[in-house]
Formats: sequence, structure tokens, C-alpha cells
Amino acid sequence: MNTTLLIESLDLDDLQNLANRLVMCFPSRLTIGLVGTLGAGKTTLVQAISSAMGVDRSDVTSPTFTLLQSHCAGGQTLHHLDAYRVADEDEFLELGVEELFDQEQAWTLIEWADRVEGVMPDNVLWLEIQIESHPDRRTVEFRTSDHELSQVLKTALREMMPKG
Ligand SMILES: Nc1ncnc2c1ncn2[C@@H]1O[C@H](COP(=O)(O)OP(=O)(O)OP(=O)(O)O)[C@@H](O)[C@H]1O
Ligand SMILES: [Mg+2]
Repeated sequence: MNTTLLIESLDLDDLQNLANRLVMCFPSRLTIGLVGTLGAGKTTLVQAISSAMGVDRSDVTSPTFTLLQSHCAGGQTLHHLDAYRVADEDEFLELGVEELFDQEQAWTLIEWADRVEGVMPDNVLWLEIQIESHPDRRTVEFRTSDHELSQVLKTALREMMPKG
């Protein structure tokens, strides 16, 4: 069963708070598939998560040309990939992504993950960023079909969800 949760009207501070909650609540091995149009804020969210993990956010740039950048902080690794320029799922697999998905103490964050959806692991947390009419606000939709992740997600976002 799929769990879908939506948070609206996030500015950059809210986005950092969200990233802090995710890092605090989710297990040390996680794959996040980031979805959203050009400039939606995928890299910005990766920077916020990096910063919450203790990685200098200025070290996190768009991996469009290198395809994979890895960062370490306090025993935790953050792999940052961008599937925008990969030709197909085979080329994506050739980067060795399955090894990354299985790695303990590692979060793997993939921009444009919808382009390689067929080879994403079952226990992925999908995160879709939508631009709102206000230029500095975003809606973030979370989706997972993994039961364990779904439970963690509900706990992590409880305080950020609108009441009622
Ligand atoms: N609330 C917000 N959340 C995310 N980004 C925001 C927000 N408000 C403004 N921005 C700005 O929007 C831009 C988002 O760019 P970013 O590079 O993160 O997008 P992207 O989705 O990674 O794009 P690309 O598809 O080119 O990889 C940044 O300049 C960021 O500062
Ligand atoms: Mg980007």
C-alpha cells in the first residue's frame, strides 16, 4: 500500500527544518528519489539534508556532469546522484548504484529519479517538489510503498503537518 503525505508552502527555512527532521528520524541507510521540474529545488533539498548531517552545504553542488558525488560526515555517507543526463536505466546501473543502495550508514539521494524508476529499490522514499505561485515557496509530496518507511515518515512529519 502507498502512503502519500503533502506539505505545502515551505520556504527555505521550512525546508531546512524538514531536512533536520528527516535526518533525525530516518534510519542510517536510506534511498531518496527526488522528483521535480528544472529549478524546483532538488539540489537545494540535498544541500539542506547535507547540512543536517554535518556536511558543509557549499561542498554539495549539482552532480549533473560527474553524475555521482559522495560526502562523509561523522561515519555517515551521503551519495548524491543526478539521473538527468543518463541515457537509460542500464547506464544508471553501470554507475554501481545497487551497491550504494545496499550500503550501511549511507543515504543515497537521486535527482530526476523518475527517469530511472524501474531500477530504484522497493524501499525508496519518493519526494516530489512542486513550485507554488509564490516564487520562494514549495510543496513537497512524500510517497512510499514500504511499510517501515511509511511509519517513520508519519512520525517525522507529524509536527509539520497542518492540524485538523
Ligand atoms: N522554498 C524553496 N525551496 C527550494 N528552493 C527554493 C525555495 N525558494 C527558493 N528556492 C530557490 O530555487 C532554486 C532551486 O534550484 P535547485 O538547483 O535546487 O533546483 P533543482 O530542482 O535541483 O534544479 P535542476 O533540475 O536544474 O537540478 C534555488 O535557487 C533556490 O534558492
Ligand atoms: Mg539539481
